[in-house]
Amino acid sequence: MSGTWVVFEGGDGVGKTTQIDLLAAWLRSHMPDVVVTREPGGTPLGVELRAAVMHGDHVAPRAEALLYAADRAHHIHAVVRPALERGAVVVQDRYLDSSIVYQGGARGLGDEVERISMWATEGLLPHLTVVLDMAPTGDRLERDLDRVERETAAHAAQIRAGFLALAERAPARYAVVDAARPVDVVAADVRAAVERLL
Ligand code: TYD
Repeated sequence: MSGTWVVFEGGDGVGKTTQIDLLAAWLRSHMPDVVVTREPGGTPLGVELRAAVMHGDHVAPRAEALLYAADRAHHIHAVVRPALERGAVVVQDRYLDSSIVYQGGARGLGDEVERISMWATEGLLPHLTVVLDMAPTGDRLERDLDRVERETAAHAAQIRAGFLALAERAPARYAVVDAARPVDVVAADVRAAVERLL
């Protein structure tokens, strides 16, 4: 496959959407075929699966993991593989690392989650995963948080650690970018990492 595939990962609220938009605009000024997509919800079926999985707290954890995997299987088959085969640059919001970290780690489903996603996608892995990394509570001190904020922060810290551990496992395929800096500074680092691939 002749295309280039870049995935963005990170916790909620780290600025993925902004950075994806900036990278896509820059890529589009240099090349003709740039596909911006996301999981869950990168296809019409995926939009329905996204609505189903984000339904609230009523989805059993294993069902949730399978819905993300179903979205992923269809998305890779219908959008990503064809785009890469024709030589496009694909910029994607979240991929299997999100399942490993959110379902495997935070929901406690373990390593099987990764195998389910690898089966779903026939093992397709991105050329680069950009992890936008940020401390969950910013500058606030633990003692200034209430109970709910503390729980939210603990969950976010677990998610953050999960992505960092994945990046450490295969550093050649990852760029960990400090996302706590100004938007344009982060964007420049992201662009530099992507430029090395092209
Ligand atoms: P996202 O579309 O990035 O929304 P937001 O911009 O609100 O972060 O992701 C939606 C949520 O879906 C996010 O909380 C992470 C979760 N998610 C999983 O739990 N597992 C997955 O495999 C994926 C792709 C996302």
